[in-house]
Amino acid sequence: MERQPLMSPYKMGRFQLAHRVVLAPLGRLRSKNYLAQPHAILYYSQRTTNGGFLISEATLISGTGIGYTTTPGIWTMEQVEAWKPIVKAIHEKGGIFFCQLWHPGRVLDDDDYQPNGQAPISSTDKRVEPENGQPDPRDCAFPRRLGVDEIPQVINDYRLAARNSIEAGFDGVEIHGAHGYLIDQFMKDQVNDRTDEYGGSIEKRCRFALEVVAAVAQEVGPDRVGMRLSPFANYMDSADSNPEALGLYMAESLNKYEIAYLHVVEPRMITAEDASETPYSPLPMRLAFKKSFIVAGAYTRIEGNKAINEDRADLVAFGRLFIANPDLPRRFELDAHLNKYVRATFAIPDPVVGYTDYPFLDETKI
Ligand code: PHB
Repeated sequence: MERQPLMSPYKMGRFQLAHRVVLAPLGRLRSKNYLAQPHAILYYSQRTTNGGFLISEATLISGTGIGYTTTPGIWTMEQVEAWKPIVKAIHEKGGIFFCQLWHPGRVLDDDDYQPNGQAPISSTDKRVEPENGQPDPRDCAFPRRLGVDEIPQVINDYRLAARNSIEAGFDGVEIHGAHGYLIDQFMKDQVNDRTDEYGGSIEKRCRFALEVVAAVAQEVGPDRVGMRLSPFANYMDSADSNPEALGLYMAESLNKYEIAYLHVVEPRMITAEDASETPYSPLPMRLAFKKSFIVAGAYTRIEGNKAINEDRADLVAFGRLFIANPDLPRRFELDAHLNKYVRATFAIPDPVVGYTDYPFLDETKI
C-alpha cells in the first residue's frame, strides 16, 4: 500500500515526527481542583504513538484565571507534580507532548473566584453577552479591563507557566490564542475597545499576544513554542470585522519570533459545534508563516491527506476523531473503520466513560 501523506514523517524543527496526525488540545473537564488526575495517564498514553505529536488540554496559567475547577493548572508546584507522571507515560511511548497555556480572561462566571473577589480580567469591561453564541450555559461576569501597568504581570504569568511546563517534562508549550479567551479578547476588534497602546489598530490589538509569545519564547526557547489562533471564529462573543487581515498580520509577525509552529482553527469552525459554510481559507496564513503549520477543525482522513499533499499544512490536528479512536493514526494507516464519538460524554467528570473506554481496533477482524 502506498504511504498516505498523513502517515509520512515530518521534522518540526528539533522534533522528528513519525507522522502528521496530531492530538488536538481538548478540554475534557476531568481534572479536580485544577490538578491533572492519574486517569489522564491512560487517556493520553492510549493516544500516543512513537514519534506522534500531542497537545494537552487547555491548562490554566494563573490564579487570575480560575473558575473552571475541572481543568488542570500549571502555576503551582503541586500542579507541576500532578502533570509529571502523565508526561512521563507519553515519553515512555515515544510521544512529543506540548502543554497548552490558557487564560480564559472574561469567559468566567460571576462567582467570587478571582483573587480579592475582583472581577475576571480582560482587554475590556464588556461581558460575553449570553445571546451572542456562547456554547456553554455559564453567565459570564462583567470583566475588569486590565490597566496598562498590570499587563506585564499577566505576561509574566505566561512565562512562568511555560517554565513550569518544562519543569513538568513537557517538550514545549502551545500558547492558546484562540476561541475568545484572554489573548483573543485583545486581538478581536469586536471585543477590544481600548484606546491605549493595546487597542485600536491591528498592530495594537496584537501587541499583547506578541508580547506573550516573546516572553514565552525567551523563557523556553522558540523551538519549544507554538501558537494556536482562530481569527475567523466567533466563540464566546469574539468576532473580528476583518479576520483575514488579522490572521495574516499575526502569521507575518510571528515569523520574527521563530516559534516552531502556528496552529490555525479552520474558518469553517465559526462555532465550537459543527462546520459551517465560509468564504475564508487559512491558506494566506500558511503562505505567510515560515515554520510549521498545523490546521484543525472537522478534518477527515481524506481531507487531511489532501491538505498535506497540496502543501496547505504540515500537520493536521484531530479532536473529535481522536477522542473516539485512541489508535487514530493506526486506523488511518489501515483505512480502517472509525468509532463514532459521543458528544454527551466529551466533558463529563467520569474518569473512564467517554474518556478511556473507546475500543482499539481489533486487527484480527479486518
Ligand atoms: C477551547 O479552546 O475551545 C476550550 C478551552 C478550554 C476548555 C474547553 C474548550 O476547557
